[in-house]
Amino acid sequence: MLSLCIVALVALAISHWIYRWWNPRCNGKLPPGSMGLPLIGESLHFFSPSTSFDISPFIKKRMERFGPIFKTSLVGRPLIVSTDPDFNHYIFQQENKLFQCWYPDSVREILGRENMAALHGFIHIYVKKMVLNLVGPENLKDMLPEIQQVAERTLQQWSHADSIELKEASASMIFGLTAKKLISYDSNESNEDIRGNYDSFIRGLISFPLDVPGTAFHESLQGRKRVLSRLKNMLHERREKLVKQPVDFFDYVIEELDKDGTLLTEGMSLDLMFLLLFASFETTSVAMTLALKFLSDHPLALKQLTEEHEMILKQRVDADSGLTWEEYKSMTFTFQFINETVRLANIAPGIFRKTMSQISFKGYTIPAGWTVMVCPPAIHLNPAIYENPLDFNPWRWEGMGRNDASKNFMAFGGGMRFCVGADFAKVQVAVFLHCLLTKYRWKAIRGGNIVRTPGIQFPDGFHIQILKKDIC
Ligand code: HEM
Ligand SMILES: *[C@@H]1O[C@H](CO)[C@@H](O)[C@H](O)[C@H]1NC(C)=O
Ligand SMILES: *[C@@H]1O[C@H](CO)[C@@H](O)[C@H](O)[C@H]1NC(C)=O
Repeated sequence: MLSLCIVALVALAISHWIYRWWNPRCNGKLPPGSMGLPLIGESLHFFSPSTSFDISPFIKKRMERFGPIFKTSLVGRPLIVSTDPDFNHYIFQQENKLFQCWYPDSVREILGRENMAALHGFIHIYVKKMVLNLVGPENLKDMLPEIQQVAERTLQQWSHADSIELKEASASMIFGLTAKKLISYDSNESNEDIRGNYDSFIRGLISFPLDVPGTAFHESLQGRKRVLSRLKNMLHERREKLVKQPVDFFDYVIEELDKDGTLLTEGMSLDLMFLLLFASFETTSVAMTLALKFLSDHPLALKQLTEEHEMILKQRVDADSGLTWEEYKSMTFTFQFINETVRLANIAPGIFRKTMSQISFKGYTIPAGWTVMVCPPAIHLNPAIYENPLDFNPWRWEGMGRNDASKNFMAFGGGMRFCVGADFAKVQVAVFLHCLLTKYRWKAIRGGNIVRTPGIQFPDGFHIQILKKDIC
């Protein structure tokens, strides 16, 4: 009798829970949408792969059915998806007031609970200033010759190989440069390959946070542990050293950490280093790979871009002197080309926030504590702003800046959380293109196709051969 009672109660509780799942509490009108199955929600559809540059079928179908703002549920949480330019803009502007940066448990566990995205308010601003000291425009100016040297040396090495896989090779190049700046890392000397620990990381980041051997999440956590223990050892060694001459960014962070009354903790410092090592190479290498893929497929763009870079050499007194900051700033078509590349790349398929209090917008109400996902692809592929949005057309950026730019371009995010590394990424891509286009040509060999799950990947890589230009 008692057990029957319990069964009945449990059944009642479950059906109530399922009812609540489909009908979340709200003091107003929630955006339309479907919540899918309890717990799994609509995760399976969300993560199902697509092979085009277009908005993922998951989002597209729901935009058509429910409009630009809709509700769904992913990995056990209710979620509002915004494809509305005004709402996205509002979300970015209200950072730390009505919305706060928020990422799923899997991301927090892997990137660290005190990583920069998990810091808010003045401590976030303080850490951001530190990072800008490394990759802000002033420092990039000084870094320019080094960035060029790395690109030249790398291209030279690549040109001796029959073929290289560009995604992997460019990730390696970028990691080499930033890891040197961050921790004086020299891949020749150290026998433990730090970067290897970031393999399969992206898959782990957007996965179900189930920590059992065999899952991508587990692999990523293991990788995190190994890198973190390396960083911890480094931190302790450096703190013990008596003579302190800051040589890299980690030294600078430790200096801040050792200041009286500092806001920084050891945990924050380690999570910051861990995040920067990762954020720097994974995103920019995708942009570089796609840039060359687009150039391979669009001879007119290749022609104009090559002319721009050859012109820089022609206008110089000494063609062999290094790039100057003025020359870099003068690469007009290159910047249009990079904008177009990251527009279509949609390297960040979603930007997550949590509501700090109840939100009312365009007649909808979103309760406090809900998750909201800004969906950049829906903005970047909006035909009302970008005509024939799936065409790769760098010329569309001529005079585009006036067109309410910040609402319609969010490849690097927006508001207070705008990507601190955006300028760094752009310099690296532009300088790489400069060195490539003035001295080399290339042949696409195989691969180059993409898959989105919804993060962009190159399932077969992109294999190319780099050849020295014939000097005639
Ligand atoms: C093409 C390359 C890149 C793309 C597309 C990209 C994209 C983004 C986006 C969309 C955000 C905003 C996230 C949010 O609002 O929640 C962001 C933030 C961030 N990015 Fe990048 N990024 C790139 C390169 C880099 C590089 C090279 C670095 C390394 C210095 C970097 C470091 C960061 C950091 C630390 C944040 C967090 C900023 C904050 O919370 O205030 N990114 N990035
Ligand atoms: C690493 O070693 C290779 C050859 O083993 C050499 O060509 C390269 O210059 C070295 N790189 C650094 C940064 O020392
Ligand atoms: C690239 O996009 C940004 C944001 O819309 C804009 O401010 C900038 O002017 C664009 N650059 C070019 C060269 O069009």
